[in-house]
Amino acid sequence: MKLAVYPGSFDPITNGHLDIIQRASKICDKLIVLVSINTNKKGLFTSLEKAELIKKSVLNLDNVEVDCFEGLLVDYVKEHNIEVIVRGLRAISDFEMEFQMAGLNRKLYDGAETMFLMTSIENSYLSSSMVKEVFYMKGSISQFVPECVENAMNKKVSEVRDE
Ligand code: PNS
Repeated sequence: MKLAVYPGSFDPITNGHLDIIQRASKICDKLIVLVSINTNKKGLFTSLEKAELIKKSVLNLDNVEVDCFEGLLVDYVKEHNIEVIVRGLRAISDFEMEFQMAGLNRKLYDGAETMFLMTSIENSYLSSSMVKEVFYMKGSISQFVPECVENAMNKKVSEVRDE
């Protein structure tokens, strides 16, 4: 059984992430979408909130599960006997960081391979931070994220406003 993990900060999940999830789910037996901690990014949503939004967005995919992990990715990979780490690659700007991460993970644990899927052209500009920026500046994000994410972002902002 080919078990793969797709780690990310998913703050929030976008249609770009969903495209990668759909395509990766076709080439492995089971895909775990793993909400992980990127210490360089400050999150809008908690890990549990992110995981709930991802679960709602992948209901149609039978072999996709969602989990959260606060430690090193390779520790999760080892613990779950995962063979493949999936990452999406957008423009050239992603390459350096992804190259470093794949190399570091391999150095820490060489029992899994990182597999890159090129994002679809229509999502090549899309990122969670861009979505948040458009949202904060009151632009429409409906074409970039699943509906549940847009609703959750509206709710989050009104909660902050009411505090
Ligand atoms: O969506 P992102 O922010 O590009 O994902 C990066 C992420 C969360 C996959 C990466 O930061 C990660 O693997 N975090 C877990 C901690 C870890 O293993 N760090 C070492 C590899 S960089």
